[in-house]
Amino acid sequence: MTKSVTVRVPGKVNVYLGVGPREFSGYHDLATVFQAVGIYDEVTVSDADSLTISGLGSFTDRIPTDETNLAWKAAELVARACGEEPNIHIQIDKSIPIAAGMAGGSADAAATLIACDAYWNAGIPRDQLDAMAATLGSDVPFMMHGGCALGIGRGDVLSPVMTRGSFHWVFATFDEGLSTAQIYEKTDDMRGLEFEGEPEVPTELLSALARGDAPALGRLLHNDLQLAAVTSRPQLGRVLEQGIDLGALGAIISGSGPTCAFLVRDESSAIDLVVALKASGLVDDVLHTHGPVHGARVISTSR
Ligand code: C5P
Repeated sequence: MTKSVTVRVPGKVNVYLGVGPREFSGYHDLATVFQAVGIYDEVTVSDADSLTISGLGSFTDRIPTDETNLAWKAAELVARACGEEPNIHIQIDKSIPIAAGMAGGSADAAATLIACDAYWNAGIPRDQLDAMAATLGSDVPFMMHGGCALGIGRGDVLSPVMTRGSFHWVFATFDEGLSTAQIYEKTDDMRGLEFEGEPEVPTELLSALARGDAPALGRLLHNDLQLAAVTSRPQLGRVLEQGIDLGALGAIISGSGPTCAFLVRDESSAIDLVVALKASGLVDDVLHTHGPVHGARVISTSR
């Protein structure tokens, strides 16, 4: 029997995304609150003669199968750390939409770090895996942990955020993605060189999360990248408005977009919104889920 390890990893939405000015590094200082949501990819690492990647699921033809996939780099990092050759196959069974602002690529990288550590019995300490995650991308450390967390720095310096109960989300997704780097750049252009704001998460938002108060959280959702995303693709503005007209408690672009995230009161409001958005013809797909959920975790191993 071939040896294999499967890790399940969720997507995310930023319930608050405050973006500071562009730093010399090219990155922006963030103050963000991530929430992991129940749309999952499954990453399976198994024996192979060399490092290879393949996709499964509805987005298979859009998954990079070479070193441009963050999962490839993640496997190389773990192999180097434990003195192994990265002779493994990485199979990515994808449900998190691609280039959608839900950190799907980062999630796969986080899952690969954890899968490779288990596959090679490396026992790499968690803080070292987190450090590797941060070198791969700003969202990768959060995808390792999941739940709900405050992210500062590039979004990679995390502290847990208390939440109560479960929040219901509806996500409107689009086949055509947006480039994260371009949305940050457009945000800079729209703000101008003199912009100096320091991002800060409002305490009211943290207390709405702690109380499990969905109506309050809905009112406080905020994303500094939203204007650039909506200006790049005006249809997104219409989708957000429609969600509010149809009774959502709040509507926001997820991360750098184009996914539109709607916070709703309960299961039955979610189902109503899914049906109405699907009928609108403005979106390519609509998903209903909840958060927060756990981060990347091993779900099966065979040896
Ligand atoms: O870190 P990651 O590779 O996911 O970031 C993708 C792009 O998003 C970066 O190349 C950068 O242009 C932008 N970014 C940023 N500031 C951050 C995070 C990302 O400008 N804090």
